Amino acid sequence: MTRTLDDIDLTDRVLHSTEDLSEFWRDLRHTKPVHWHQPADGGTGFWVLTAYEHISAVYRDTKHFTSERGNVMDALRAGGDSAAKRMLSLTDGRRHTDVRSILMKTFSKRGVEQVGERIRGITRGLVEQALERGTCDFAMDVAAPIPLMAICDLLGVPEEDRWRIFDLTSSMVASETPEHTQKDAWRNKNEVLFYFANMAEGRRVEPRDDIVSLLTGAQISGSGLTEDEIIFNCYSLILGGGETTRMSIGGAVVALVQHPDQWRALKNGDVSVDSAVEEVLRWTTPSMHMARTAVADVEIGGSSIRAGDIVTLWNVSANRDEKAFELPDAFNLARSPNKHVTLGGGSHFCLGAHLARLEINSVLTSLRDLVSEIEPVGEPRRIYSNFLGGVCHVPVALR
Ligand code: HEM
Repeated sequence: MTRTLDDIDLTDRVLHSTEDLSEFWRDLRHTKPVHWHQPADGGTGFWVLTAYEHISAVYRDTKHFTSERGNVMDALRAGGDSAAKRMLSLTDGRRHTDVRSILMKTFSKRGVEQVGERIRGITRGLVEQALERGTCDFAMDVAAPIPLMAICDLLGVPEEDRWRIFDLTSSMVASETPEHTQKDAWRNKNEVLFYFANMAEGRRVEPRDDIVSLLTGAQISGSGLTEDEIIFNCYSLILGGGETTRMSIGGAVVALVQHPDQWRALKNGDVSVDSAVEEVLRWTTPSMHMARTAVADVEIGGSSIRAGDIVTLWNVSANRDEKAFELPDAFNLARSPNKHVTLGGGSHFCLGAHLARLEINSVLTSLRDLVSEIEPVGEPRRIYSNFLGGVCHVPVALR
């Protein structure tokens, strides 16, 4: 059934998990690419942008839009994000540039390569274990541990705490069941913040070679970062570093199973792994939307957006925009050019882009080198969220 503008509520977390909205997005792109959306709860309405052209322009437009009140729909509709101006993604201007350059030491291409060997080794080991068992839940057994281990290594989170952190973060922006409450998310978020507050305290006394120590020791114009900045940025890294990449890796396997010709192209070396990584990112689009607040009146696509309005940018639609991609609904690992917006754009472009690409690359390389056949042995299960999109269970047999 094609959904129409009148019967859809984009804030509904179940909707994104249970329905294929591709026709809805296509209709919007063609008929109302800048659309004012009034959710069913009667609360704050917001603009919905679906065209690639408009979305990439807003990512770059720091004159008319800010991230400092929040960058996702739910937080903005609730009156603003509690981490505003204390977390990289929710800080603009000079402070943003300064904090980002501190973290760039770790997340630059060269910085990330330092953990490359370890990530490739972990990935190979996990795929080998899955092969030995014959069947596995690729999402839980392979996709989840890779980004978790990588970001925990970088942050300095000890091995014994990692799966507890995974349980807490994986239920913050999404859940495996429709009955997830906001209260659970807040409780889990507080526990993670508290965890990093303790860790930062320890690193002040005894610094090590990790990001928590980097942040506690960093100086901007002679002053250290605030306690809140340190804790919220650790929280953001563990969340941004873990959940999104997990969705892309799980989604990659689902896509390869559904497109055997593309699996063969990867296996035979007809496409480069680098190019395959970009198509996996475009195809899976784990951050379904990002959001901004207008700080000045501005016109987009003939619609007048007023200062104070919430503007949501639907990456899932932009990445299938026929004006930006040839045959956008084809999963084509050789796609070139492939300028997807999966990792955002402009000054807030994903800090973890090199790390995410390295992780997905290590999975595709291990699959290509070690696996001859991937066969589904059950239905993949999607998570429930209006922000994060993807699969949490992918039962497959590997041979
Ligand atoms: C920013 C997506 C992996 C950390 C972003 C943004 C997007 C995004 C769309 C832009 C946010 C905005 O404009 O408001 C993704 C996806 C990933 C991924 C889809 C995986 C497939 C990672 C990893 C890390 C990370 C591995 C860290 C280890 C961050 C941070 C920002 C960010 C800190 C904020 C950057 C800034 O404001 O300057 N990410 N991300 N992400 N991402 Fe990622």
